[in-house]
Amino acid sequence: MNIRLEQPIDWLEVENLTREAFWNVYRPGCQEHFVLNQYRNNPDFIPDLDYVMEEDGRIIGHVMFSKAQITLNDGSAFPSWTFGPISIHPDYKRKGYGLKLLRYALDRAREMGVGLLQMEGNIEFYKHAGFDLASKLRIHYHDEPAENEVPYFLALELIPGYWGNREGTYCPPPGYFVADAQPDVFAAYDAGFPPKEKHLAPGQLPQFCKSCGKPLSKDDDCGHNTDGSINFDYCQYCSASSI
Ligand SMILES: CC(C)(COP(=O)(O)OP(=O)(O)OC[C@H]1O[C@@H](n2cnc3c(N)ncnc32)[C@H](O)[C@@H]1OP(=O)(O)O)[C@@H](O)C(=O)NCCC(=O)NCCS
Repeated sequence: MNIRLEQPIDWLEVENLTREAFWNVYRPGCQEHFVLNQYRNNPDFIPDLDYVMEEDGRIIGHVMFSKAQITLNDGSAFPSWTFGPISIHPDYKRKGYGLKLLRYALDRAREMGVGLLQMEGNIEFYKHAGFDLASKLRIHYHDEPAENEVPYFLALELIPGYWGNREGTYCPPPGYFVADAQPDVFAAYDAGFPPKEKHLAPGQLPQFCKSCGKPLSKDDDCGHNTDGSINFDYCQYCSASSI
């Protein structure tokens, strides 16, 4: 197993790996490969923390980091960092590779002066690398009431004392919202990859009909597009009435 910095020649392979890793995990299909594709031109992107992991002569893992900031309670901006997407190819999941890649990248980040990381993720994985609930450091999530303990919002002070006794609120950098901001550009980009079926599946983030708000938990709850494909944005009733 080898970990090294990503090179331009890896870009397409790594984006496809990211797509394979995230497909249908958090939503029908995924957006993370487009986030990565766009981030490489973003001034927040950190090329020196853009790692691939190789095994069996192929790239099986990847992680990228981004500059970020926390808005302190007095309104000032505090420099911070985040990371992701982090991907391990489905054939290599749950064999310890993800944790090895993450720990390696965190060590390099600390050496570079990255003092604090916060991100959304599953604590059952990230706790093994030292992450805990961000609320314990009094870092609040922009989308949730400040008094809430947000189970998916995690943080790690990489350099002890960097955050100190501050209090503030985090919103992910705009680079993470590119697919929603440019849906047509994203759709055209994704169409360049091998076809894959989208499905609603247990464990995904809650999905709702964009018209009536009804929860969508399985494919049959959704409507259809005129070409017969499933429309994951609308329930069968709203989709039918809009056609
Ligand atoms: C999440 C991911 C990077 C983890 O990498 P991995 O190589 O599969 O994980 P590891 O084998 O290193 O896991 C180490 C430990 O973390 C925990 N863990 C890992 N993935 C977990 C999951 N999905 N749910 C709960 N615990 C998990 C387990 O305790 C695991 O040990 P175990 O397998 O002995 O029980 C990888 O599964 C992946 O690419 N998933 C899809 C994309 C994704 O979700 N990325 C993270 C977005 S926040």
